[in-house]
Amino acid sequence: MKQYDNVMIFDHPLIRHKIAILRDERTSMKEFRELVEEITMLMTFECLKDGVPTTEIEVKTPLEVCKQQVVKDDSIVIVPILRAGLGMVNGVHRMFPSAKVGHIGMYRDETTFQPQSYYCKLPCGIEDKFVVVVDPMLATGGSACDAIQLLKDKGCKNIRFMAIIGAPEGVSKVAETHPDVNVYVSTLDRGLNENCYILPGLGDAGDRLFGTK
Ligand code: PRP
Ligand code: URA
Repeated sequence: MKQYDNVMIFDHPLIRHKIAILRDERTSMKEFRELVEEITMLMTFECLKDGVPTTEIEVKTPLEVCKQQVVKDDSIVIVPILRAGLGMVNGVHRMFPSAKVGHIGMYRDETTFQPQSYYCKLPCGIEDKFVVVVDPMLATGGSACDAIQLLKDKGCKNIRFMAIIGAPEGVSKVAETHPDVNVYVSTLDRGLNENCYILPGLGDAGDRLFGTK
C-alpha cells in the first residue's frame, strides 16, 4: 500500500497480541468485547496525542500551587458507526469519560457493498469539537468515508478515524478522500474477499460483538 501522511498503522507487540486472540474464531463474545475495548484504549492514547483542546488550570499540591494543562471540558465527541463501532466507545471513554457520543447508523448493502445510512444523532455543537469516529472494520472504506462526509457536512473540521483492522483498499480510500482526517488503524490486513470481507480479518465484527450469528 502507498504511504500516507495522514495514516498511522500501529506496530506494537501488545496490540498484535490482542488482535491475534480477537481473530481466533474460538474467542467468546465476552472476550471479544473486552479485547475490542482494550485495543481501543491503547489506540486512543495515540489518537488523542495532538490537536485535543487543552486549557491551563491551577492545582494546589501539598507543597505549592502550580499551573497544569488539562483537556478542555466538553471538547471531545466519539462517533461510533453502528453497529460495530459501539464496541469501541467504552475504550475511548475509559481514557476520557466525559466525551459525548454521537451515533451514525450505516449498513452495507449485501450485493453492492455500498453503505446505506439509516440513523444519525449527534450532540449539539459538534462542529467545534474534536471528533473521533470509531468502527472496528475498515473494508472497502465506503462506510467510513460516508460517515466522515456526513460530519463534514454538519460543519465538523477536526475529525479523526480509528479502526482496529484495515484492508489496504479501505485505508487508501479514506486517506485519499479525506486527506485532512488522521486515520489510525491498529493492523493492516492482506485484502478483501469476493464479499468484501477483510482477509484474514476476524469475520463480522457486529455479529461477534453482539452474538447475532
Ligand atoms: C461493517 C463494519 C463497517 C463496515 C465496513 O458494518 O462495522 O461499518 O462493515 O465495511 P466497508 O469499509 O466496506 O464500508 P456492517 O455493514 O456489517 O454493519 P453492522 O456493524 O451493523 O454489522
Ligand atoms: N465488516 C465486518 O464486520 N467484517 C469485515 O471483514 C468487513 C466488513
